Amino acid sequence: MNILLTGPQGQVGSALRPLLETMGDLTVLGRDTLDLADADAIRAAVQQHRPQLIINAAAYTAVDRAETEPELARAVNGIAPGILAEEAGRLNAALIHYSTDYVFDGTHSEPYVETDPPHPLGVYGQSKWLGEQTVLTSGTPALVFRTSWVYSLYGANFLRTMLRLGQERDTLKVVDDQWGAPTWAQSIAETTVAFLQQARGDELIPFIRRHQGVYHMTNSGATTWYAFAQAIFALRPECRAQLIPIPASEYPSPVRRPANSRLNNRKLAEQLHLTLPPWQEALKRCLSALPSNDR
Ligand SMILES: NC(=O)c1ccc[n+]([C@@H]2O[C@H](COP(=O)([O-])OP(=O)(O)OC[C@H]3O[C@@H](n4cnc5c(N)ncnc54)[C@H](OP(=O)(O)O)[C@@H]3O)[C@@H](O)[C@H]2O)c1
Repeated sequence: MNILLTGPQGQVGSALRPLLETMGDLTVLGRDTLDLADADAIRAAVQQHRPQLIINAAAYTAVDRAETEPELARAVNGIAPGILAEEAGRLNAALIHYSTDYVFDGTHSEPYVETDPPHPLGVYGQSKWLGEQTVLTSGTPALVFRTSWVYSLYGANFLRTMLRLGQERDTLKVVDDQWGAPTWAQSIAETTVAFLQQARGDELIPFIRRHQGVYHMTNSGATTWYAFAQAIFALRPECRAQLIPIPASEYPSPVRRPANSRLNNRKLAEQLHLTLPPWQEALKRCLSALPSNDR
């Protein structure tokens, strides 16, 4: 199978890359070779590489900065996924795309299900919601995996910020009134590949067409940013800062985040037979990969 992966240097993309290499002929297109803000370049790249499957792990993920760069966020997160889908369709290929809990406003009292109506609070969430729609209305067989609070040992994320500030600071204020599921990029990559493996012995494209739509995909359980930080510190004794819980209203930010980011993963389990490990277990596995001289 010919697979084209975008965002290979991102958290999810870099976790996917080695797994996809074992599944077929993999082409990776980073931002240096394909700028997703350039519609013509996307069309040319897909036609040149003629993949059977496109996995779009690239995104404009700077939630705060998106407020001042709405056009760029819209181009990369909203328009580009639709073009990838259209071009995949011309080749009778399929698309796997990722989206976010930030399509919701967080006012719901329960974990969100896929049929709950999105209502993003900021530009990033709006751009990601547009991307879901451009993908799903393209007519191309496509899956959208919505995930939340992604972290890994690479890139910019909450885990890495806590590991750094936990050693630099004496005290650290962390938001304690937003709930969600921290999700390890590796868990997303492994679950995506487990889905693809189900298609073995079947035709991939009709398999994806049969299952197409949106699925919530997070590590199981839920916590707050503050309790997530506590769990990180409990596993890394060098993080000695005293953690102080604060409400989101005390944390300066140009954009509001949903208070409830919990995503219900039942559809993924019932329809695709896929479950992700509890967030605490994933965190432990992720941190166990740190070199021992960091301990
Ligand atoms: N991070 C989260 O907390 C989170 C939460 C929920 C959902 N998600 C979704 O999960 C998916 C994967 O996110 P992630 O955390 O792995 O993101 P990430 O680490 O920020 O990686 C995104 C990748 O996209 C690339 N990219 C950005 N703009 C581009 C452009 N114009 N052209 C080509 N490539 C471009 C980036 O390249 P550069 O390295 O050059 O910038 C980066 O390699 C995304 O769909 C995201 O929206 C993420």
